[in-house]
Amino acid sequence: MVKVCCIGAGYVGGPTMAVIALKCPEIEVAVVDISVSRINAWNSDALPIYEPGLDEVVKQCRGKNLFFSTDVEKHVSEADIVFVSVNTPTKTQGLGAGKAADLTYWESAARMIADVSKSDKIVVEKSTVPVKTAEAIEKILTHNSKGINFQILSNPEFLAEGTAIEDLFQPDRVLIGGRETPEGQKAIEALRDVYAHWVPVDRIICTNLWSAELSKLAANAFLAQRISSVNAMSALCEATGADVSQVSHAVGKDTRIGPKFLNASVGFGGSCFQKDILNLVYICECNGLPEVANYWKQVIKVNDYQKTRFVNRIVSSMFNTVSGKKIAILGFAFKKDTGDTRETPAIDVCKGLLGDKARLSIYDPQVNEEQIQRDLSMKKFDWDHPLHLQPMSPSSIKQVSVVWDAYAATKDAHGICILTEWDEFKTLDYQKIYDNMQKPAFVFDGRNIADVAKLREIGFIVYSIGKPLDPWLKDMPAVA
Ligand code: NAI
Repeated sequence: MVKVCCIGAGYVGGPTMAVIALKCPEIEVAVVDISVSRINAWNSDALPIYEPGLDEVVKQCRGKNLFFSTDVEKHVSEADIVFVSVNTPTKTQGLGAGKAADLTYWESAARMIADVSKSDKIVVEKSTVPVKTAEAIEKILTHNSKGINFQILSNPEFLAEGTAIEDLFQPDRVLIGGRETPEGQKAIEALRDVYAHWVPVDRIICTNLWSAELSKLAANAFLAQRISSVNAMSALCEATGADVSQVSHAVGKDTRIGPKFLNASVGFGGSCFQKDILNLVYICECNGLPEVANYWKQVIKVNDYQKTRFVNRIVSSMFNTVSGKKIAILGFAFKKDTGDTRETPAIDVCKGLLGDKARLSIYDPQVNEEQIQRDLSMKKFDWDHPLHLQPMSPSSIKQVSVVWDAYAATKDAHGICILTEWDEFKTLDYQKIYDNMQKPAFVFDGRNIADVAKLREIGFIVYSIGKPLDPWLKDMPAVA
């Protein structure tokens, strides 16, 4: 029986391994982590991450050919294929601070693999890593190998949170990079055989190591660039009276461009886009390509601009101050159908409003108070470390309350910010909400999900990103 082990039971390691276990009943899959609470949660009824369809997959395989454990060394030593899906945070200190990837967790995983291995292994990079990481890992493994043969593969993960299970069941492609030696090709084949259990072979792309590593960074940079492109257009739409949804629709009809990923919003978030672009920027700079680095840096700058612009709209339209005013925040996760808050634009919007002394009442169907308080008090980039190693703020922010219902959040509020496109926010009883709010009552829709005409009819002053402005907002400055 082939044994697979995955180091890192996070958003990537958990779902990917659960799907491998489901699709390959003859493979034994162990997912290991240094975080005891995470492993306990994977072994309980309340899984540590929310992802539609994940519960069913885990329930079908757990205890049969899928195991979650903190006994990292035992499972690594027994495995034929070891996936590494640990955190790759952005460095906050030293060389490359604020841009380069911090490979501390990766390196310690590689050293541990070398220490405990007693048989040949294929080591698979599942985490997103800078180009040429495989070379570094290979060096660590071979210099400590005691005669054991390690083959390194790059197999970046393209799943999107919120649709992870669907994406894993039917991936657009699976990418496997390896050495162009006979041993390297053999390792590629072994991993291809795993995926071929359910992925059509023409969707499994095999490349060299560096192409696979760079393709992942490039794909995320392209995706984020689309969002920044449409968001840049949204600012121009507001200035000119065009409607960004109509522009996106017209532009997306061009088959060379396509309709997906063209929704204007308060900005992109999630653990990957910003981090991967910063990483790409750093690699470009290290390779003497400042023009290329600056090109990609601009994608992040527009994203930051969009969040600042949104906060400025709120403050300026509420008589230039939100001091002491209650603002309801609907949605905190970085997108719907996930409880993930890493790099969510809600953090910057909330911090911006708190900077102007607002009182916030936050509701998200999948994010609890502890997480929100942690996110609002944590320093930039600190989130990307194993849970038990994250610095915790000693006190919570008093001006922030977290409630479990949109109606409680909006009661007596002066304004509402919609920051995540949860379906339930489309069908709220906005008349009831309006009746219980201070007047004038504002809605700032950061996801363009609200029915603007209906809300205006009720009496709300509405700001919708990239849409013709409410007369109230027309003369208010929106620039960052
Ligand atoms: P995560 O933070 O959810 O999971 C990482 C896990 O690794 C944590 O549970 C941590 O405790 C564990 N860990 C760290 N060092 C360890 C060690 N030495 N031994 C055992 N366990 C260790 O992170 P996530 O989101 O799963 O991401 C993992 C990698 O995959 C990152 O490089 C990320 O950029 C990449 N990625 C993430 C995607 C996403 O949608 N979240 C999509 C594609 C790639």
